[in-house]
Amino acid sequence: MNSYLWWQTGVIYQIYPRSFKDTNADGIGDLQGVIEKLDYLNQILGIDAIWLSPFYPSPMADFGYDVANYCDVDPIFGTLEDLDKLIFEAHSRDIRIIIDWVPNHTSDQHPWFQDSRSSRNHPKRNWYVWRDSKPETGGPPNNWLAVFGGSAWEWDETTGQYYLHSFLKEQPDLNWRNPDVKAAMFDTIRFWLERGVDGFRVDVAHYIMKDPKYRDNPPASPGEKSFHRPHGQYDTQHHLYDKGHPDVHAVYREFRTILDEYSTAKPRMSVGEIHIYNFAELVKYYGTPEIGLEFHMPFNFSLLKPEWNAQSFRKLVDKFEATLPAWAWPNYVLSNHDEGRIASRYGKEQARVAAMLVLTLRGTPTIYYGEEIGMTDVKIPQSQQLDPFGLRVPGLGRDRCRTPMQWDASPNAGFSHSGTSKPWLPVSDQYPTINVARELGDRLSTLNLYRNLLTIRKSSPALQWGSYTPLDNVPADCFVYLREAKGQRFLTALNFSSESQVLHLSNFVEAKIVLSTYLDRDETIDLKKFALRENEGILIQLGN
Ligand code: GLC
Ligand code: CA
Repeated sequence: MNSYLWWQTGVIYQIYPRSFKDTNADGIGDLQGVIEKLDYLNQILGIDAIWLSPFYPSPMADFGYDVANYCDVDPIFGTLEDLDKLIFEAHSRDIRIIIDWVPNHTSDQHPWFQDSRSSRNHPKRNWYVWRDSKPETGGPPNNWLAVFGGSAWEWDETTGQYYLHSFLKEQPDLNWRNPDVKAAMFDTIRFWLERGVDGFRVDVAHYIMKDPKYRDNPPASPGEKSFHRPHGQYDTQHHLYDKGHPDVHAVYREFRTILDEYSTAKPRMSVGEIHIYNFAELVKYYGTPEIGLEFHMPFNFSLLKPEWNAQSFRKLVDKFEATLPAWAWPNYVLSNHDEGRIASRYGKEQARVAAMLVLTLRGTPTIYYGEEIGMTDVKIPQSQQLDPFGLRVPGLGRDRCRTPMQWDASPNAGFSHSGTSKPWLPVSDQYPTINVARELGDRLSTLNLYRNLLTIRKSSPALQWGSYTPLDNVPADCFVYLREAKGQRFLTALNFSSESQVLHLSNFVEAKIVLSTYLDRDETIDLKKFALRENEGILIQLGN
């Protein structure tokens, strides 16, 4: 028996509930839809945990990341009973449930904010961040910008002050320096832990603590980006003061203590959405065993950054591995509801190599819904876009990677079972070929590649928790690494180029290909000399 926990050995699958499966023909995915697809996730695909993007009551200004009640379900997705049922049905299939928790901001419709904005004297006034205008200019208190464009400050006529919103003005930032806010938010965590959820994905976790002096951000240095992809005007500043103040760590230590209390009954987990690309900074969010632990994992978004290139990927993996404390658990992310689809960023064949990469590296992979069938971005004309980010900063919209899951070749791709309803976002026109039903019947499909990778991983100590050793002396276009545990050894050899590559690895003896990203070979090979075809990844089991 190994002592690794479900969130370490398992694979997380992200569901964007609006887009997964609609069961009442209103064109919007719902919790009942997730319940209906649990057997697919479990028996067919073979994932271990679901992360659900927000399902809370919300005016949907940011499609649920503007929460109006942390302890309920929006009627568009169903009811609290549906969620209880989902938790129960998932658990009975050994699937863990991770829910999204959005601590940085609420909806402007949340009763807390309604109270807060009602009067300067309201006891909840200090639950949000209110400031006077700058005396010299009469304008916003400082130069902070909102991620989605424009100033981070909104003038409120009724009480004559500005409030802070790091995202939309409909998403006012909570004041985490107020102990009452912290207590109320931690109560919402307890609410869900009591209901049996297994973990939390914490939205923009590092944003909750800002400079208490509200100093202006300095300008960005040339070429500096705030995220791995351009963010328009937001990129003109070095975001020194408007997020990630060191006081943030004490909050997550406390948060972790609550999770740990509940973990004595069954292990819970937390994963922080933290856009920090400096690994030394990022790993601080694991906390330390001495001072106190924080997140079980902060999301590692580093692989979203580079072009498709073996050296860049290897460098980032090696650097992350080298920075990670020995006790901390790694993880990798290649896409989510804020990014482009893998096949659209790197290419269709490359996406298969990427699948082998993320499912054979050391640490927990998070797979975004639809990646397992090779879904691509959908180009949506500006006039039909819905994402507030894209509406405010044209070109940066995220609708393209949030389109309905493609289940089969029927109208609406089987997403919405009545062919007459109109899905909230257009279905990709590729759905007749890129869909679950067809790919299940195609031995060589992307879905079958994922299924194979997941099956192998599940029964392999080396892949689930073995060591990681990159190999030198391979062609520059290849990334090759060894995973080893308990006498089991796997070698992953990935060709990032569109030309075949010849490898010479002499110090291993017996070698058998257990999987190629082309799904067409399983022969024994001689490692002294073997070839990878263009855009091919292979998984090799080594003898002793
Ligand atoms: C996170 C979410 C994103 C959301 C933003 C504001 O980055 O992933 O979808 O818009 O936070 O909550
Ligand atoms: Ca629905």
